[in-house]
Amino acid sequence: PHPVWHDCDPGSDDAITLLTLLGRPDTQVLGVGTTHGNAPLSATTHNARALLTLAGRDDVPVYAGALTPLVREPVYAPQIHGVGGLGNVPLPPPGRPAQTEHAALALIRQLCAQPGEITVLATGPLTNLALAERLRPGVLKEARQVIVMGGSLEVGAPRLGNTTPRAEFNAYADPHAFQVVLSAGAKLALLGLNLTRQVRVTRERAAQLAAVGTAAGRTCAALLDDYLDRIGKLGQSVGALHDPCTAALLLAPQLFELEPASIGTLLDSGEHFGETVRRDAEPNLELVIRADEDGIYDLIAAALARLP
Ligand code: BDR
Ligand code: CA
Repeated sequence: PHPVWHDCDPGSDDAITLLTLLGRPDTQVLGVGTTHGNAPLSATTHNARALLTLAGRDDVPVYAGALTPLVREPVYAPQIHGVGGLGNVPLPPPGRPAQTEHAALALIRQLCAQPGEITVLATGPLTNLALAERLRPGVLKEARQVIVMGGSLEVGAPRLGNTTPRAEFNAYADPHAFQVVLSAGAKLALLGLNLTRQVRVTRERAAQLAAVGTAAGRTCAALLDDYLDRIGKLGQSVGALHDPCTAALLLAPQLFELEPASIGTLLDSGEHFGETVRRDAEPNLELVIRADEDGIYDLIAAALARLP
């Protein structure tokens, strides 16, 4: 099976990502690193542990990582994910404690043990990946691929960001870390809001996942319904399935279209803080530009069907 590292801030869509990976017999989740992000680190770490218990996979180790961003003050997203990160969706009590090793150190250890083999999925702020890169310069180049959900490149679209008018949440929550990872020279694929907004969240999609008939399927459906309830209060009726697109890109690249691009993060404070922009330079990543919505949901449903 293909070795994968998942760095995340669960987070309802992070949760669906992790469960999708766990439902795939061709994928080996080596470990889960957690970060501040949608909720404080203590909550995202608890949630990762509980999700593994739900999946019957307490054998997968969880490593708590960054408590705070590199430079800026922490920002959380309770209006989208609830104060605890997974809305009001009940999960079993976690069956196993987190490891004592820091997520950044565990990531370095894994990448050095299997150079060129591991795919790193990053679905939260990039603080842990940036810490790893700063502690061991060049370490992210040891990944087979680094797949990041973050940023937004819909230039000219009515809505660019989802956190400020211009910035996407993961980029905004630690833009300095985002820039460290973008400039690390790693084999990088970036899925921004321009891509994830093509993969819509609706009540019908929640029902599709519930119909899978497993506890994992019902939990993911409840997470989507909770998310739709919350964005409904903000005046939106259709959401975007952000983080699971990273898992789908790894598992079914034929569902996506990519183009080389040079992307950077704006770090000056002011209205552009955390905005991702195209630059006129050598490409530093593959920007994911199109996705097959039905194919992604079918892949997720099939994976959730294999879990308890
Ligand atoms: C990203 O922000 C978080 O709220 C989601 O989990 C996703 O990773 C989308 O902007
Ligand atoms: Ca996330």
